[in-house]
Amino acid sequence: ASNMVIQNMSFRVGQSLAIVGNIKPHAVNFSVNVGHNSQSIALHLNPRFNAFGDTNAIVCNSYQQGKWQQEVRPGGFCFFRGENFKLIIKLTSMGFVVTLPNGCQISFPNRLGSGKYNYFSFNGDVRIKSFEIY
Ligand code: GAL
Repeated sequence: ASNMVIQNMSFRVGQSLAIVGNIKPHAVNFSVNVGHNSQSIALHLNPRFNAFGDTNAIVCNSYQQGKWQQEVRPGGFCFFRGENFKLIIKLTSMGFVVTLPNGCQISFPNRLGSGKYNYFSFNGDVRIKSFEIY
């Protein structure tokens, strides 16, 4: 499992984040996190192949006041071990809109309410190949 952090790169309402990564062959899970710092995460997007009791599930959450909040579990799972994937995360005035590798879109509320985030982390069984804000 790896852990990569990008800091001090601003991501504002109206912008999108495009992430391309490669999932490790024996991946258990990985996460993409957007927030202010490791203790203040507005969006935790966690595809689980086989982790925390889940098989092939996407779990979204925020981390605030020292704890995980209420999970949102969109249906459908479109990540594959050993393969590349692309995710697009847009921050809108209505919250985060995530375009999954299969083209489906999921929404997650902007619970921290900020119009700008500048901390990104990637954890678990993934290798990030590109990261772009536009
Ligand atoms: C926990 C897990 C965290 C995070 C959280 C999301 O069970 O340990 O890494 O994924 O769920 O709600």
